[in-house]
Amino acid sequence: MRIRTVVCVVVVACVWLLAAGCAPQKAEQVRAVQIADGTIDPAEWGKAYPVEYEMWKKTAEPPDTPGLSKYKKGNDDPKSMVDKLSEYPYLALLFNGWGFGIGYNEPRGHSHMVQDQLDIDSSRLKAGGVCLTCKTPYANYLMKTMGADYYKTPYKEVLARIPNQKFATLSVACIDCHNNRDMSLTLSRDFTLGAALRGMGVDTAKLDHQTKRTLVCAQCHVTYVIPKDKDMKSVGLFFPWQGSKPGNITIENIIATIKSDPSYLEWKQTVTGFKLGFIRHPEYELYSNNSVHWKGGASCADCHMPFTKVGVHKASDHRITSPLKNGLKGCIQCHAESQEWLKEQIIAIQDRTVSLQLRAGYATATVAKLFEKVHTAQAAGKKIDASLYAMAKEYYEQAFYRCIFIGAENSIGFHNPTESMRVLGDSIAFATKAEAFLRQALAQAGVIVPAKVDLELAKYLNNRGAAKLNFRKELELPDPSGIQNRF
Ligand code: HEC
Ligand code: HEC
Ligand code: HEC
Ligand code: HEC
Repeated sequence: MRIRTVVCVVVVACVWLLAAGCAPQKAEQVRAVQIADGTIDPAEWGKAYPVEYEMWKKTAEPPDTPGLSKYKKGNDDPKSMVDKLSEYPYLALLFNGWGFGIGYNEPRGHSHMVQDQLDIDSSRLKAGGVCLTCKTPYANYLMKTMGADYYKTPYKEVLARIPNQKFATLSVACIDCHNNRDMSLTLSRDFTLGAALRGMGVDTAKLDHQTKRTLVCAQCHVTYVIPKDKDMKSVGLFFPWQGSKPGNITIENIIATIKSDPSYLEWKQTVTGFKLGFIRHPEYELYSNNSVHWKGGASCADCHMPFTKVGVHKASDHRITSPLKNGLKGCIQCHAESQEWLKEQIIAIQDRTVSLQLRAGYATATVAKLFEKVHTAQAAGKKIDASLYAMAKEYYEQAFYRCIFIGAENSIGFHNPTESMRVLGDSIAFATKAEAFLRQALAQAGVIVPAKVDLELAKYLNNRGAAKLNFRKELELPDPSGIQNRF
C-alpha cells in the first residue's frame, strides 16, 4: 500500500495542507460577526461562515451525480426512499413485531433527519421523544427542560415543545458540533456520548482535536439502548459500552449489556415471541474497534468532510456524504493510489460483506422460523427437549444481534472489513448450531421438518403499515458471490 504522510491529517488545517503537498490556499474570509451563545439558527452562524453554511444546506439535495455508490443509494432520488426491507428481505421477518419491520429506509442527507422520522410509519415513533436525541439540535434543551419525561412523552408532543417551531424539523446544526465563540469542535450531547465515554474511563475534558473530528459524529452514529418500564414506556437512553474500552468496543460486550437486564429488551419479535434488544447504526463502534484506518489515525471527518475548494477558498466539506459521492477527496490526502483503484477496493470489501450478510440473515431467519414450528408443536402438546431449546435460544440471540449489528452499520463493512467478516462469520456459526439443535428437538418430538424451511417472506414483506408498503423486487440485493440468496 502506498501511503502518503498519514500524520499530516492529524494536525491543524493549515499545516495539514502544506504537509499534504497542496498549494497553500487563501483562508476563508470570515466576517466579523459575533454568534450569540445558544444560537441554534444556522443562518445566523452562516453570516460569519457563509462557505460552510452553503455546503451544510446542500445536504438537503440529492448528489450532483446519482449512482456513484453501489450500496448507499438512499439519497439518490428525492422522490423515492430506498426500503432496506426490500434490499434485505429476511429483515422483514426478523423485525416483524415493531416499527422497523414496517418501515426501515437507507439513510439520506443530514438535512432530512427529522422530516424523515415524521414521514415514516408512525409505529417507528412509539418509543417517544427519545427518538429525537440523535436528530434535533434541541435535544439538550428538551432533556434539560423536560427531565426524564422527555424520553417517554409522545414524539410529536416533544417536537411541539421546541420553542421556535420554525426549527421543529431542523436537523443537525452548527451548534451540535461547534463552540460559537471560537468554532472549536464540541460535543453538545454530554448526557449521552459524554456519559458513555466517561463510563469507559475517558476524561472528556481532555479530548484532543483529531479525536473530536470523530466524536462529533459519534454523538449520533452509535448504537444505543432505550430502557423500558413495565408498561414498555421509554425511561432513558444509554450507549451499551459497559465492559468495553475506547478503541475496542466489541459486539460481545454490547450483547452482554443488552442481555443483562430485561428492561433493555425493547420489543417482541412476532415469529419467535421473544423479547429482544435492538442495535442501531454502530458506525463509531465498528470503526473504532481496531480498524486499519482508526489505527492509522483517520477520523470520520477525514473521509466524510475532506477539504474542498470553494471558489478561492478551502474548507471542510460540510455537505457530509459518502466518500464515493465526494470524489474520494479525503482518501487521496493519504493514499497515492488512483480514485478508480480506491473505489474498486471499497466495492470489493462491500461485495464480500453483503454476501456474508445475506448468508447470516437467511440463516438467522431460518432459525426464527424453526422456533415458530417448535412453538406450534408445543401448543399441539408435543414435548420439546428443554436443554436443546435453551441452547438454541441462546445461540439464536447471539446470531441475531451479530447479524443486525453489521446490517445496521452503514458502511457495508468498509469501516472495518476484518471485524465485519468476523462478526458475520460468528453469526452464521451460531445460527447454524441453533438450527441443528432445533432440528434435533423437533425430530425427537416426531415433527418432520423439510430440508428447506419456507420463510414465508411475502407475508412479512407485503402490506406493511398504514401506507401498505410492498416488497420492491428491484431493490433486492443479489448475492455478489453468485450463490443464490435464499438457500
Ligand atoms: C456534524 C458536525 C458539524 C456540523 C453540524 C457543522 N460542522 Fe463545521 N466543522 C466540523 C468539523 C469536523 C470541522 C473540521 C474542524 C477541524 O478539524 O478543525 C468543521 C470546520 C468548520 C470550520 C473551520 C473551517 C473549515 O471549513 O474547516 C467552520 C468555519 C465551520 N466548520 C462552520 C460551520 C457552520 C457555519 C456550520 C453550520 C451551518 C457547521 N460548521 C456545522 C463539523 C461540523
Ligand atoms: C445529530 C445527529 C448526527 C450527527 C451529529 C451526525 N450525523 Fe450523520 N446522520 C444522522 C442521521 C439521523 C442520518 C440519516 C438522515 C436521514 O436518513 O434522514 C445521518 C446520515 C449520514 C450520512 C449519509 C448521508 C447521505 O448522503 O446519504 C453520512 C455519510 C453521515 N451521516 C456521516 C456523518 C459524519 C461523518 C458526521 C460527523 C462529522 C455525522 N454524520 C454527524 C445523524 C447525525
Ligand atoms: C477511511 C475512510 C472512512 C472513515 C475514517 C470513515 N468512513 Fe464512513 N464511510 C466510508 C466509506 C468508503 C463508506 C461507504 C460509502 C458508500 O458505500 O457509498 C462509508 C459509509 C458511511 C456511512 C453511510 C453513508 C451513506 O451514504 O449512507 C455513514 C453514515 C458513515 N460512513 C459514517 C461514518 C462515521 C460516523 C465515521 C467515524 C466513526 C466514519 N464514517 C469513518 C469511509 C470512511
Ligand atoms: C488518514 C489517512 C487515510 C485516509 C484519509 C484514508 N486512508 Fe486508507 N489507509 C490508510 C492507512 C494508514 C492504511 C493502512 C496501510 C498499510 O498499513 O498498508 C490504509 C489502508 C487502506 C486500505 C487497505 C486496508 C483495508 O482496510 O482493506 C484500503 C482499501 C483503503 N485504505 C482505502 C481507503 C479509502 C477508500 C479511503 C477514503 C474513503 C481511505 N482509505 C482514506 C490511511 C488513510
